Amino acid sequence: MKAYTLTSYGQDSATTWADVPAPQAGPGQVLIKVRAAGLNPLDAMIARGDFKQLLSYRLPLTLGQEVAGDALALGEGVSNFAVGDRVFSRLPIEAIGAFAEEVATDADQVAPMPEGLTYAQAAGLPLVLLTAIQAFTEKAPIKPGDKVFIQGGTGGLGSIAIQVAKHLGAYVATTVSSKKVELAKSLGADEVIDYRTQNYEDIISGYDIVLDTLGKGETLRSMKVLAPGGKLMTVVGAPDTDFASQLGKPLLKPVMWFLSRKERAAAKKLGVNYSFLFMRADGQQLRDYTPALESGAIKPLVAQVLPFDQLEEGLDLLAKGQGGPGKIVVEMN
Ligand SMILES: NC(=O)c1ccc[n+]([C@@H]2O[C@H](COP(=O)([O-])OP(=O)(O)OC[C@H]3O[C@@H](n4cnc5c(N)ncnc54)[C@H](OP(=O)(O)O)[C@@H]3O)[C@@H](O)[C@H]2O)c1
Repeated sequence: MKAYTLTSYGQDSATTWADVPAPQAGPGQVLIKVRAAGLNPLDAMIARGDFKQLLSYRLPLTLGQEVAGDALALGEGVSNFAVGDRVFSRLPIEAIGAFAEEVATDADQVAPMPEGLTYAQAAGLPLVLLTAIQAFTEKAPIKPGDKVFIQGGTGGLGSIAIQVAKHLGAYVATTVSSKKVELAKSLGADEVIDYRTQNYEDIISGYDIVLDTLGKGETLRSMKVLAPGGKLMTVVGAPDTDFASQLGKPLLKPVMWFLSRKERAAAKKLGVNYSFLFMRADGQQLRDYTPALESGAIKPLVAQVLPFDQLEEGLDLLAKGQGGPGKIVVEMN
């Protein structure tokens, strides 16, 4: 079958369309006929080699994090799906491969596609939806009325994070560029700050939770809007020791501790909490949010749907920050 594979890491990573053996549904797995796949900044990070020391990928590696499609075959012991079901999934980080005609993954990571969504809409959801769910129900659980600040409110992640936070009863502030102010309001944001013309730290304060989607200097800067006792989660900044545990590499804890020393020191000074979030695949959490997706309480935001063979163009747009608002998705003919 045709697959988009990574053959060497680096700034000038090499990728190619290749003919690879079609996967089989192993025990406990669902074989999915890929109809659409979502693009994420993580695809470029993996190709650059950012995860090479942490995850034991073998090259050539079929890229692609998330998928929507049809169940083609079921492995031994899978009873909660039927062949032909429309399904979607965030594949486990250690076993990606959505940029292909077919992919097999554990049934636990798969969920039935919500009624009313197209394959393209469903394919762009799992990674960002699960990130938002895990941010706001696990790392920093939202209580109704909490004030939540989300950076980059019309990005792939931000657009869903705003809606999940509102769904959980938060008051939400967000940053966007000038042309996207109205869109962020339509996603439910209560306070929309134009990051090109305004300084958010002069406008908002006393927040309970920050979701930092930008990293670099923005992590420490956005920490300042928290009330004492508040929580900042970054999805791009310095990793913390919990990330080493999550990867099953406890020996890396001292490294992660060292890498996040500046952020932890700043948090301590302000009396707030700092953590790094790396989302995980979870089919049950996708199922839990099906009612919200079917009722339209949470709506996917898809910027562009490209044919599968224009996947590279899509990845380029994403890398240049020209892909939004929302997600880029590729669709099989
Ligand atoms: N750790 C995890 O589990 C995890 C999960 C999901 C995502 N992530 C990471 O989160 C980041 C965002 O992902 P994404 O899918 O949302 O990317 P994206 O779709 O490319 O969105 C990035 C957003 O950032 C906005 N932005 C750029 N500069 C900004 C600034 N100075 N202030 C405020 N907003 C700014 C952009 O807005 P404009 O276009 O309007 O400029 C855009 O909406 C990526 O680095 C991704 O790798 C991590």
